[in-house]
Amino acid sequence: MVDNQTAQNEERKKIILSGIQPTGTITLGNYLGAVKNWQIMQSEFDSIFFIADMHALTVRREPSEFRQTSLNFFAQFLACGLDPERAIMYFQSHVHQHAELQWILNCNTYVGEASRMTQFKDKSAKHADNINMGLMDYPVLMAADILLFQSDLVPVGVDQKQHLELTRDIAIRFNNRYGETFKVPDGYIPKTGAKICSLQEPTAKMSKSDPDPNAGVSITDDEGTIVRRFKRAVTDSGNEICVREDKPGITNLINIYAAIENKSVEDVEKEFSGQGYGTFKIAVGESVAAKFKPIREEYIKYLADKQYIAQVAKDGAEKAARLAERTLRKVKKKVGFVAF
Ligand code: TYM
Repeated sequence: MVDNQTAQNEERKKIILSGIQPTGTITLGNYLGAVKNWQIMQSEFDSIFFIADMHALTVRREPSEFRQTSLNFFAQFLACGLDPERAIMYFQSHVHQHAELQWILNCNTYVGEASRMTQFKDKSAKHADNINMGLMDYPVLMAADILLFQSDLVPVGVDQKQHLELTRDIAIRFNNRYGETFKVPDGYIPKTGAKICSLQEPTAKMSKSDPDPNAGVSITDDEGTIVRRFKRAVTDSGNEICVREDKPGITNLINIYAAIENKSVEDVEKEFSGQGYGTFKIAVGESVAAKFKPIREEYIKYLADKQYIAQVAKDGAEKAARLAERTLRKVKKKVGFVAF
């Protein structure tokens, strides 16, 4: 026999949550590592997706450009098929509970843990003139984002794995100290597409902030640009189209094609066996361009409708704040804040 509470819990859909920093535009890497999976998963899970504008402030931004980029990202969310009927979507800065929980988690995180994070070290090296507190505290804000909603699963690319591990450590530590409070979340990292590499330097991750425009493509690029960038993609010596450690360029292209076409890597190797690099590069470019064409068209449409974006974002923030407040109230009580 299951009691009422157990039955309710069993009925409850699992919660997924993820976010993206609004810098540049959504790249092929972001799409395959994260957004594409969010779009698929939103039918099965209670879903929460947000624009991580507070995270993006760790790097200096020009305010009017930052505001516009954040709005553009919201339009890109919608264009990628994230559906406000099924998912809660909002700007992180509109839900104050993120920052409030972050403070409490800060007091339960060690400086040593935060300063060990690879992204903190990389970003400190890249922005040596602006190693601000936020840069080091970034993963604690991420932990707050996730734990605030009692998330079960966090769909991300492989570069976020270390931050997820820290989130789990913080949750477990807090639960041990104050009693069961947070759901300890799991990461969801896709089999193909979890690390899409630069088209110019295929051992490095494709990044929104790469200064070389040929290094990546974005969901807002037109067909000509996408195919051209793939034609220019750096490949390896030899002529065999296969996944191999000494062939990072071709391996990356195979992974991209497999993820876009929903095929296995082995099937892609078979499909292009005996063909030259040139033909393969064009095929990958055309496949990506075909996938992004309707997304770009939708993007342009949504961008023209600021009122709709505002409405969806406001509704999303209200719903998110209501859920977040439940956890925050519990946390405040657990740590011993006075409540009347
Ligand atoms: P961000 O904005 O760097 O990237 C957004 C998502 O895209 C994934 N990603 C990639 N996947 C495959 N190949 C790539 N080259 C690639 N580049 C990026 C990232 O793994 C991510 O899933 N800290 C996060 C945003 C964030 C967040 C959160 C995510 C803030 N709070 C809470 C999950 C949960 C970030 O900077 O992602």
